[in-house]
Amino acid sequence: MKSILVTGGAGFIGSNFINHILKERDDYNIVNLDKLTYAGNLENLKESESNPRYSFVRGDITNAELVHYLFQKHSIKYVINFAAESHVDRSILGSEIFFRTNVIGTNVLLEAARRYEVERFLQVSTDEVYGSLGEEGLFSETTPLSPNSPYSASKASADMMALAFYHTYGMPVVVTRCSNNYGPLQFPEKLIPLMIINTLYDKKLPVYGDGLNVRDWIYVIDHNRAIDLVFDKGRIGQVYNIGASQEMKNIDIVKLVLKNLNKSEELIEYVKDRPGHDRRYAIDSTKIRTELGWKPKYCFEEAIVKTIEWYKENRKWWERIITGEYQSYYERLYSNRSLQ
Ligand code: NAD
Ligand code: DAU
Repeated sequence: MKSILVTGGAGFIGSNFINHILKERDDYNIVNLDKLTYAGNLENLKESESNPRYSFVRGDITNAELVHYLFQKHSIKYVINFAAESHVDRSILGSEIFFRTNVIGTNVLLEAARRYEVERFLQVSTDEVYGSLGEEGLFSETTPLSPNSPYSASKASADMMALAFYHTYGMPVVVTRCSNNYGPLQFPEKLIPLMIINTLYDKKLPVYGDGLNVRDWIYVIDHNRAIDLVFDKGRIGQVYNIGASQEMKNIDIVKLVLKNLNKSEELIEYVKDRPGHDRRYAIDSTKIRTELGWKPKYCFEEAIVKTIEWYKENRKWWERIITGEYQSYYERLYSNRSLQ
């Protein structure tokens, strides 16, 4: 049995990972350490709650005492670090918590992992560490890091710190850098769920700038299948890009959501651009495909419809979220953005 500390497992990707992997693997014992910030939601883990191979601890990855205690108590030998402040717009409103959680928190985990001699540490990184592309080209694992937002700068620091622990101490670290995820359980501040929910409410759809920025989309389960493969078989000290080669302009995603929900494009509202907005991301995932035999299972056209259906059928999940703290964030971010 592998005793794995999964951090940030109550968030979008982490909860999808736990729910999926407990069904796929019977040799994983998962301890989920999550602070339950605005983005963490235990409801996401309903189907795993009663599994004897799953336990939850509410806590902060920056709390070294707690982290060391958990390593001892659960004889942790494996770590998958999803925990992070993950939203670029929030990092522009205030960067401090991004530095604290993403950089210091990762460092606390790395130090504990070194002390307790873990057999594998997987750092979940992002393609945003590479910066922005022009019209042509793809990010490969050797593309120089050039992060542009406080979020991506903090993720690049964590990613490099993890690799430094491999180079310096020989710690068995692997790093994954994935493109934009979509799917069930994504917090509705991110492009796709935000557009679906605003459309369902006949609310304006705020498109930043000219709407022509490009992101490379991957269904969350495909990301998690790749994480598990790298965790299991990736070569230590290596970085693996993860992507499904599904580039889309933001405006085309918004129009697709409107079309699927039979609503008019009049709901689209172009708003002031995100400061420092990266123009284009696109991933070259040749390495994970050739070396580990991974390839995506889900095609965008089907999985986006499945995702829209999920949000239609799970109104209660997101209605609970879009009240309270999230509502005041929404007002703060979008109230000064209108171009009219
Ligand atoms: P999310 O914001 O939905 O979830 C983050 C989780 O981390 C939440 O449950 C939150 O409570 C927890 N958390 C935050 N600070 C914590 C702390 N100090 N201690 C313990 N727990 C804490 O994020 P997500 O979209 O699921 O992303 C998960 C990881 O994947 C992040 O590291 C992110 O950088 C990376 N990533 C995300 C994407 C994407 O498209 N969403 C793509 C590539 C990589
Ligand atoms: O590329 C991986 C990254 O993808 C992850 O590391 C991040 O955690 C994740 O949040 C995501 O970052 P993005 O900034 O690309 O995602 P977001 O959903 O915030 O925005 C996607 C695009 O849509 C981006 O070009 C900005 C635009 N956008 C976003 C929002 C929220 C809009 O036009 N309007 C909006 O209201």
